[in-house]
Amino acid sequence: MARLIIVSNRLPMSLHSRPDGTYVLTQNIGGLSTAIGPYHKSHKDCLWVGWSGIDPTTRTEDEINAISDEFTRHRCIPIFLDSKQINGYYAGYSNDTLWPLFHDFAHEAKFDSLTWKAYEEVNEKFADTIAALANPDDTVWVQDYHLMLLPALLRARQPKLKIGWFLHIPFPSPEIFHQLPNGKELLEGLMGADLLGFHTEDFCANFLASVKSMLNLGIDKGGRISVQEDGRQRFVTVDAFPIGMDYGLYRRNARSSLAQAMRHGIEAFSGKRTRRVSTSLSAESRAAAEAEESWSAYTEDDLSEVKLAQSAAAKRGTRDNKVIVSVDRLDYTKGLPERLRAFALMLSRYPEWVGHVTYYLLATPSREGVESYRQLKEHVDQLVGEINGKYSLLSWTPIHYITRSLPIKPVCGIYSAGDVALVTPLRDGMNLVAKEYLASRDGRDGALVLSDQCGAASELTDAYIVNPYDTEAVCEALHSALEISSAEAKRRNAVMQARLKYRTASLWSTEFLSALRQVSDPRWADR
Ligand code: G6P
Repeated sequence: MARLIIVSNRLPMSLHSRPDGTYVLTQNIGGLSTAIGPYHKSHKDCLWVGWSGIDPTTRTEDEINAISDEFTRHRCIPIFLDSKQINGYYAGYSNDTLWPLFHDFAHEAKFDSLTWKAYEEVNEKFADTIAALANPDDTVWVQDYHLMLLPALLRARQPKLKIGWFLHIPFPSPEIFHQLPNGKELLEGLMGADLLGFHTEDFCANFLASVKSMLNLGIDKGGRISVQEDGRQRFVTVDAFPIGMDYGLYRRNARSSLAQAMRHGIEAFSGKRTRRVSTSLSAESRAAAEAEESWSAYTEDDLSEVKLAQSAAAKRGTRDNKVIVSVDRLDYTKGLPERLRAFALMLSRYPEWVGHVTYYLLATPSREGVESYRQLKEHVDQLVGEINGKYSLLSWTPIHYITRSLPIKPVCGIYSAGDVALVTPLRDGMNLVAKEYLASRDGRDGALVLSDQCGAASELTDAYIVNPYDTEAVCEALHSALEISSAEAKRRNAVMQARLKYRTASLWSTEFLSALRQVSDPRWADR
């Protein structure tokens, strides 16, 4: 029977060692594994091939066998890569060349023939592993920019396979793609597929423009590229499949006791329920004043904070305090410094928010083997420190900065507490965080401030759409989002939530796979 083989750089599960020397696998919560994981889990004939995360040179043969068995029990086929391969293929070519270039950060992209060699070598290794286990009529669905050479390598080994490839990040304009020294080889690698999927029509158009200019192949009106293979014509179809998310999973987790406890904790820390705004001096200033017995003991500087708190309280009257949230990998494409500057501008332009809005910034360190990511972390640490230093009151800190990876329930607790989600990547293929926030607030209010530079912006049009580079515009949108009435927020969210409930991750994979079946049907080429 024909099977589906999913292939991605990372497997959907990570390995952990128990103290007794045995191994256990836990499910990852990244976009890819939550999107395709349920299909893999529920289809007993579906295999998933990917990097194990383990360097084989650091383990004995018995350990490698035990690790392989554990993965195989979950229908995951591990690929073992040593540190040299990982540095070249993953940290190097994938994340220091393709990632920045595809996200329009050409100035960050490094071009190095050694990392390209490693990229070729690892794509070959994936091809050998898959060719050894695939039956001729199987379907192979390759994911993302790490494996762009794989479709042609597989086609050469097993010509009858149905091969699909999906890009989870943007595809750049031809002007940018042309800067890539090995761009032609990458496009040729993709010509081994039957179906190539992108998040948006714009990315499809960018891709087709590069194919046209660099490969000189015919493209018909339906976006089909015609390639010659052993003297016969074969078509490579290009189409947009905007990825969805598992709406029910986020709604359920947001309603769990743990997420609700987190939400109440955040609300209490932010003074949402416990601390009501009074128009007289804040409790802290009053206590300090009583201890000193006289205002005259204070200098003008000491009093400026008191005055600020007083005027903020007067402006805000008896309204509740607010919480802003964001959840990102610490990646320069996510626009964290730009966003922090907009938040700081809002505190200075609208001082009534000082003491009354708290920003929960969950920024999980990522790809720490790549220098630009280490530098970004230092920069964000410093900016958060500066803003907190400048605006904190004795009983209030503007930014709660968390740089750990949190499981799905606490993340949903954060979404659930957020009156506003600030999602402002400088460039992003889709951005699932925006969608996860809305699902976690199913049926509730809450405002989404969303970058116009991500795929999600073309679907979530009822959000506050902003240019993430425009500090003033983000500051103003943030202020308006904080001021929005609950009824208006609910109305906007209902439109977006209805769409997300319907266009789920599972619909996305079903649509891609049924399109793949259709286009790889041998009769298709004869029509
Ligand atoms: C993006 C990519 C994924 C990748 C994820 C996390 O979403 O499209 O393929 O898995 O980032 O990055 P990492 O390098 O940690 O796998």
